[in-house]
Amino acid sequence: MIKDSVRDAINAQMNREFYSASLYLAMAAYFESMTLKGFSAWMQVQAKEELAHGMKFYHYLVEQGARIRIAAMEAPRGEWGTPLEAFEHALGHEQKVTARIHELMELAMKERDHATIGFLGWFVKEQVEEEANATEIVSKLQLAAAGGAAVLYLLDHELGKRGKAA
Ligand SMILES: [Fe+2]
Ligand SMILES: [Fe+2]
Repeated sequence: MIKDSVRDAINAQMNREFYSASLYLAMAAYFESMTLKGFSAWMQVQAKEELAHGMKFYHYLVEQGARIRIAAMEAPRGEWGTPLEAFEHALGHEQKVTARIHELMELAMKERDHATIGFLGWFVKEQVEEEANATEIVSKLQLAAAGGAAVLYLLDHELGKRGKAA
């Protein structure tokens, strides 16, 4: 049986993953408004990934016989000054998510909840990937800022491939 404290913390993280999905969908819509279709496609794939993260927590709670609570969600920000600013926001957001996942892991360790420790291992690794992806795009956008629109359009093409692969 899962302890109430662990259950509540996992439920809260599930809701935060759904918020991440809505934040990235808002970024996808922002990129649409700039006719940066590749950036938008990348963010749409990311939003789906966040929904899948939320569902992993959902199914884990179901397996543990816990009752799931879907929380009210604040509206995400809808505008950014530049694509770089949007991706810096995404990186900062993922760094916060990483900190939350680590807090969850520490709680599971404190409660000696081995099942949850094992379950969370996947998320610990996933956050390394998420931060690496966002960091790489931030770096490329910094180069684009120096190289101008041509570099931005090349990058839009590159990021669009993620949408086609998914
Ligand atoms: Fe996530
Ligand atoms: Fe990922």
